[in-house]
Amino acid sequence: MHRRRHYIYPDLDTLAAAFVCELNRFLQETRGLDRPVHIALSGGSTPLAVFRQLALATWPEEWENVHLWWGDERCVPAADPESNYGNSRKLFLDPLNFPDVRIHPIRGEDDPELEAQRYSHLLMGQLPVENGFPVFDWIWLGMGEDGHTVSIFPDQIELWGSDQPCVVASHPKTGQRRITITGGVINAARRVAFLVAGESKAHVVNEIVMKEGNYLDYPAFYVTPLSANLEWYLDMDATSWM
Ligand code: 6PG
Repeated sequence: MHRRRHYIYPDLDTLAAAFVCELNRFLQETRGLDRPVHIALSGGSTPLAVFRQLALATWPEEWENVHLWWGDERCVPAADPESNYGNSRKLFLDPLNFPDVRIHPIRGEDDPELEAQRYSHLLMGQLPVENGFPVFDWIWLGMGEDGHTVSIFPDQIELWGSDQPCVVASHPKTGQRRITITGGVINAARRVAFLVAGESKAHVVNEIVMKEGNYLDYPAFYVTPLSANLEWYLDMDATSWM
């Protein structure tokens, strides 16, 4: 039976503060493991509030065995304000002097097809593999107003079921090329967390939670990790339809 835990906060900054506390708890818990711990960061604007607070965190030693990856990337150079990696770098990786050897960005500036293949190979080579997919310890996800997650959009929902860990996608409105992990990777993860804020997403959150309306069209609905370890971090606005 799939369990979904919801945590609701008054606003994004409070959500971010709670998430940073949970991250600290996770790092304490995994610090003793004599193996790398792999986290995939989400993109877009919502996690920026978390990254800003992380830059203030005073516990770098806790990250010792942590490797950072991305769930998706826009096909732009790291210096571009649209770059998920670039924003993470600026907001917390550089302030924390996070060692490059444990940072694994998707190269948005490279040929998308070749980069999707390269990142797939890297994941399959560095992470444990189960049922043909690399296994993350924790994947952070966002969700769009159209129910997309990572860069799998409703008009390309067939990409969710790809047997490849990473594929190329494109933004339905802007046409921007994207590189994204697929459903098999997300649902193989030991733990998955959605960070979703804002009234504009409330109807989709409600349809997914209540299994109403167009929920079957939303890639975010298919986030059902085999570990059953799924959490939703939501602000009040994003739950205004619940
Ligand atoms: C991306 C994301 C994407 C994002 C949602 C929500 O690179 O855009 O990974 O899935 O999480 O679009 O974006 P916001 O947080 O900006 O609303």
